[in-house]
Amino acid sequence: MASCCEPQGYDRVFTAGLARRDAARYRRRGLTRDPQHVVDLYRAGVLRGDTVLDVGAGIGDLGIELLRAGASHVTAVDLSAGYEHEAAALAEQAGVGGRVRRVTGDLVARGDLVEPADVVALMKVVCCYADAGALLTAAAGHARRHVVLSYPRDTWWLRLFARGSALAGRWRHTSWRFVVHPERELAATLERAGLTITHRATAGVFSVMVATRR
Ligand SMILES: C[S@@+](CC[C@H](N)C(=O)[O-])C[C@H]1O[C@@H](n2cnc3c(N)ncnc32)[C@H](O)[C@@H]1O
Repeated sequence: MASCCEPQGYDRVFTAGLARRDAARYRRRGLTRDPQHVVDLYRAGVLRGDTVLDVGAGIGDLGIELLRAGASHVTAVDLSAGYEHEAAALAEQAGVGGRVRRVTGDLVARGDLVEPADVVALMKVVCCYADAGALLTAAAGHARRHVVLSYPRDTWWLRLFARGSALAGRWRHTSWRFVVHPERELAATLERAGLTITHRATAGVFSVMVATRR
């Protein structure tokens, strides 16, 4: 059953155990490829701004590295509370605990929980949410300058995996599932919200897209 705290059951998919493994990986090897690409874009001035809203932030590793790269403040929002302990420990260890605010909630249902920011990031998040249109519209509504997201490439084998995940989600009584949203639909949603696609890159399974306010 879904928990009373998170009715969609995301806290039973994105658990404290997963958070411990993600945190151990980050301590050993740093950011994975796509978040590192976002930090590189920030350092290069392709992404500009002081404040960051990291949606579906997980352990908050991207936020920590953006603060190291010059951002002043990060708000991290995630549907699952399972990451809280590890995320707080990592931020404290990095000496940025005072510049990170963490919020548990669904950006679509509770956009009022978080303030707008210069950069809104969604790394591997649209693929965990069935209504990507609503999620990206909410993200764009919070973005003063940029939305940056990573999302799986639209391939037949990822779509097959997505079908399997829908069965797994049902079996675990969660509304979580892995979804492959067509890239053109993601871009069209951001453009309808007043942004222009200014950067796209694909490496491996995931692509990264930057949309910038016109
Ligand atoms: C695959 S994890 C990615 C975590 C982190 N961004 C990373 O790249 O390691 C996806 C996360 O997005 C969160 N999420 C999905 N939809 C969300 C929404 N509408 N609002 C807030 N968080 C969401 C999930 O709870 C989960 O923690």
